[in-house]
Amino acid sequence: TDMFGDLRKPGDAAFVAGHRGDRSAAPENTLAALQRALDSPLEFVETDIARSSDGVPVLFHDRTLKRTTDGVGPLADKTLAELKALDAGSWYAPEFAGERIPTLDEFLTILAPSGKKALLELKGFWSLDELAAVTNSLEAFGVTDRVIFMSFNLGSLSSAAALAPTVPRVAILRSLPDDVVGYARSFGVIGVVTDATLLAERPELVDEMHHAGLGIMVYTLNSVATWAEARALGVDGIITDKPSSLDVWLADT
Ligand code: G3P
Ligand code: CA
Repeated sequence: TDMFGDLRKPGDAAFVAGHRGDRSAAPENTLAALQRALDSPLEFVETDIARSSDGVPVLFHDRTLKRTTDGVGPLADKTLAELKALDAGSWYAPEFAGERIPTLDEFLTILAPSGKKALLELKGFWSLDELAAVTNSLEAFGVTDRVIFMSFNLGSLSSAAALAPTVPRVAILRSLPDDVVGYARSFGVIGVVTDATLLAERPELVDEMHHAGLGIMVYTLNSVATWAEARALGVDGIITDKPSSLDVWLADT
C-alpha cells in the first residue's frame, strides 16, 4: 500500500521538510523563508495555516502576534487588512523589515511553479465552511495532489477528510497512545508525526506502523546526529529548521 498516496512509496528514503520554511535563514512562515525552502533541494516545505477574523487563510504559527510581529493580541481577532499592516520580519533581523504575514494564496503562488510539496498544518479547529477557503485555493492553484494536511486538531482533520478526501492527512501527536496504529486507523490518517524524543522511547513503533501500511514522521531535527538516528530507525519524514545544513550533510553521505 502507498502510505502517502502518490507522494511517496514504501521503502523510499525519508523525505525532508523545512519547518516554517527555512527559519534558520529568514523569519519563519514569511515568503522570504518559504521561498528559501522552495529554492533548496528539499522535497517538502512545512507551514502553519491560521485564519484572520474575516476568514482569510494566512501563514502563522503562534496564537498571538507578539513574538513574530510588531502587533499584539490573538491573530484570530484581526482582519486581513490589519494583519497586512504588521511587520513580520524586523523581530528576526533588520534586513527583513517589511516582510508581511503571507496569505495562503501568496504562498501557493510560489509553491505552484516550484513543483515542491507542502505539509500544511491546520492550526486550531477549522469547520467545513472555514476550511473550504483552503481547499478552494488548493484547487485553484492546482496543487491538491502535492500537499498533506497535518493537525493536532482531530476536528480539523475530519473537516479535511470530508472536503478533500484525496489529500493525505497526518495526525500530530504530543504524546503517543499505547495503540498508535489503532488510533491512526480510527481517524483515517495515513500516519502520524511526533517529537523525535518520544519516538526514541518507542523505536519499535516505526516497524509497527509500516506493517500496518502507515507512516511516521518526526520533528524537529537540527543536527547530523539526530538526522542519522531517525534515518536509521526508518522514519518516513523529517522536519528540520535547518534545510540548508541538511543538504550539505546528505551530499557528504
Ligand atoms: O511538524 C510538526 C510541527 O510543525 C508541529 O509543531 O509547533 O512547530 O507547529 P509546531
Ligand atoms: Ca507546524
